[in-house]
Amino acid sequence: MSRRQFLSHQDFEDLARRRLPSMVYGYVAGGTEDGLTRDANRQAFRDYAFMPRGLAGIAVRSQAVELWGQTWASPFGIAPMGVAAICRHQCDRIFASTAAQAGLPFILSGLSTEPLENIQRQAPGTWYQGYLPGDKQKLEPLLARLKRAGFEVLVVTIDTPVGANRENNQRAGFTIPFKLSASLVWQGLTHPRWSLSVFMRTLLSQGIPRFTNVSADPSGFRINEEPAGGLRGGRDRLDWEHLRWIRKYWPGKIVLKGVAHPEDARLAVECGLDGVIVSNHGGRQLDGAQASLHALPAVVAAVPADFPVMVDGGFRRGTDILKAIALGARMVFIGRPMIHAAAAHGEQGVARLIEILKTEVDTNLALLGCTDLRELDGRYITKAR
Ligand SMILES: Cc1cc2nc3c(=O)[nH]c(=O)nc-3n(C[C@H](O)[C@H](O)[C@H](O)COP(=O)(O)O)c2cc1C
Repeated sequence: MSRRQFLSHQDFEDLARRRLPSMVYGYVAGGTEDGLTRDANRQAFRDYAFMPRGLAGIAVRSQAVELWGQTWASPFGIAPMGVAAICRHQCDRIFASTAAQAGLPFILSGLSTEPLENIQRQAPGTWYQGYLPGDKQKLEPLLARLKRAGFEVLVVTIDTPVGANRENNQRAGFTIPFKLSASLVWQGLTHPRWSLSVFMRTLLSQGIPRFTNVSADPSGFRINEEPAGGLRGGRDRLDWEHLRWIRKYWPGKIVLKGVAHPEDARLAVECGLDGVIVSNHGGRQLDGAQASLHALPAVVAAVPADFPVMVDGGFRRGTDILKAIALGARMVFIGRPMIHAAAAHGEQGVARLIEILKTEVDTNLALLGCTDLRELDGRYITKAR
């Protein structure tokens, strides 16, 4: 399939579903328990409808957004996704370089396998997302490493204090730490393209991949081993006190990801943080949590007007992005569709998906009768009846 034949995010997903072993596709697609929140994220877009204006003279338009004094080409970026490299060889590099070329932010997950120093060198300005331990002795050297590597934006995920009940992974035999099972071997045999271009290529070029970005130690630990102290090492102890301490220690921007309650957004402002991402982890943590788009307005209302509120969860179309912006979001992050694009067509796939989304944002901004995304607000949207 040539790049131009991909017309929407769905085309990438259809191909990714065929190319990836089902346990890998399932790891990406899955939510927790009954998938209520994952599905709610998508359904929520139906609850809002646009109120377009006509005769608005929209021949010249801009979808650029400003964040902490920096201008981004479009109001969306790539969300952090752990273990992305099992879907495409060097997937994080692909995300970092493609996002940088398109003028968009990319958030590198701490659960990644390419040393963060390499990614920052390749794509200066990449953000880092951590599942931080509630232990200052471990935190301090990790933050020092990030500073040395040149990271300026630290994203702290707060919706994963413990591992969630991802039954689908258990049923499919997918685990982290990774285990080579009979079913994986069978799926490898039945997906030779993935076996050769992802699995074997990775093993031959770097051996068993290592989680190199979890702590201060760049050698990390192999993806098939349990690190000392456990994979989630002390995350359940992280609290606001740690955030206040990180604020004193970290000179760059701090963004809380996984904010779902207006009170947490208010506390983030009080702690001197720089932004929040309204998120439920794509429905991969607390099942039954409200859809991101539904959580957004109350969070926006709880913080000062210029405090950046970002959002992710279920965004698939330019119109989805525009709805969130109209409801007060500054930036939207896209998760699964980016993995699908990378799995289906590598760097070109991610670049094409970005192009599709930019075009959708631009076309629909015009149809809304709005020339500048910065002027898109509640006047253009209403609750659907
Ligand atoms: C495969 C996968 C891995 C993820 N890993 C992380 C992670 O390491 N850190 C994190 O904060 N969020 C992680 N997330 C959540 C995403 O950052 C984001 O919140 C979510 O995917 C957005 O929803 P969407 O996939 O519907 O766009 C992951 C999501 C997926 C699908």
